[in-house]
Amino acid sequence: MITAALPSLAQTLRHRRERLAQQADFPVVLWSGQPQSRNFPANTHPFRSSSHFLYFAGVPLANAAIRLERGRLTLFVDEATPAEALWHGPSPSREELAQQMGADAAYPLADLPQWTAEAATLPAMDAATLAAQQSLLGRLVGLVAEAEGHDRQLAEAIVQVRLCHDAGAIDEIRAAAAASVRAHQAGMAATRQAATEAEVRAAMEQVIMAHGMTCAYNSIVTTHGEVLHNEHYHHRLRPDDLLLADVGAEAASGWASDITRTWPVSGQFSPTQRDLYDLVLAAHDACITEARPGVEYRDLHLLACRVLAEGLVDLGILKGQPGSLVEQDAHALFFPHGVGHLLGLDVHDMEDLGDLAGYAPGRSRSDRFGLAFLRLDRPLQAGMAVTIEPGFYQVPGILQDPARRERYQGMVNWERLSQFADVRGIRIEDDVLITAEGCEVLTSNLPSAAEAVEALVGG
Ligand code: GLY
Ligand code: MN
Repeated sequence: MITAALPSLAQTLRHRRERLAQQADFPVVLWSGQPQSRNFPANTHPFRSSSHFLYFAGVPLANAAIRLERGRLTLFVDEATPAEALWHGPSPSREELAQQMGADAAYPLADLPQWTAEAATLPAMDAATLAAQQSLLGRLVGLVAEAEGHDRQLAEAIVQVRLCHDAGAIDEIRAAAAASVRAHQAGMAATRQAATEAEVRAAMEQVIMAHGMTCAYNSIVTTHGEVLHNEHYHHRLRPDDLLLADVGAEAASGWASDITRTWPVSGQFSPTQRDLYDLVLAAHDACITEARPGVEYRDLHLLACRVLAEGLVDLGILKGQPGSLVEQDAHALFFPHGVGHLLGLDVHDMEDLGDLAGYAPGRSRSDRFGLAFLRLDRPLQAGMAVTIEPGFYQVPGILQDPARRERYQGMVNWERLSQFADVRGIRIEDDVLITAEGCEVLTSNLPSAAEAVEALVGG
């Protein structure tokens, strides 16, 4: 097999800048962001450069900005002071950094105000950088959803450029995905010896750290999977629990991955856990089978809803015609989120731009219970990376809500549901690259079939 050599980082970055220039014929300034204090100035949160900066500059710098115009890149960054070198070690010179990113020119940060006239930008996510941006541009920089003129055109252009990934990006996502697969294998292997969720989390994150990577988001490692973004790790593991782990690595370059698996602490699913696990897996597999260019992602979401509704009817939990149950959002009692999202430099790629990336022009969020949390509503294109992550949850806030109980009274067999009390939350999530022919599951080295998962836990 002959594999094409990857372009160099500088070539990849130049190509990205040229693509932006085709969409935006005005100057652009993007800020990297700056470290934020944790409790006093010298003790900061781990720093992560802005994804838009990383996409075009490729080097994770703090306190830097780039100006892009007609494919040219000008870097603005200061040389490290002797005090910074004392505490943080030597760092590359401005010229070396400029060379790494293929910059056409490089200046101290103090020169930036001479270069900001007529420049469009995107609002930084942290307040300090946003304040600096506004002061250097001499104008307010508002939310992208409300932006007008060149700022709005820039956001739209960046979505077009970042939506489908180039070979360099895919290579980095693959590396992050491979580390995440190993982290999940380690988490499964550690579970039977672990006393708490925290111990399994540690086993998983240590693999990511050992790869020289970081977590792409706060890990979810919980026996309370019904809390969708549970960030507590204190529960003791009990043999009849399911453990839900949503843990993904981010490469040093910033590219993300995002995997969820749910496994039995004992190494063996109970019959009720197994029924619902296999149902979520059927929804997951059905979506992946259908994922290809031209398919509407919203239809994949509705396919997952339909498979779940059919299975819940078969299990006697829902009553009625699956199609009609989905139209009435009855499936959302148990699957209240969307089937996934874009994946790239951000785990929810470009979500800092609101729904501009996730929703095709002219589309907006539905207020339907079963669609409101759908983060992606576009036709799939080759080069997009998305997650597929259906789930089943028993969320007390939904199932005990008097209004919902009344609305869905005739559609749910509550007594039958009570027999599945040992399932609080199941989610199965993989990272999927859309290809010209169909799709490739970038995280396929991590099994999802129940027996294979049980074998990895070790029953
Ligand atoms: N991995 C967390 C999420 O997709 O929201
Ligand atoms: Mn996800």
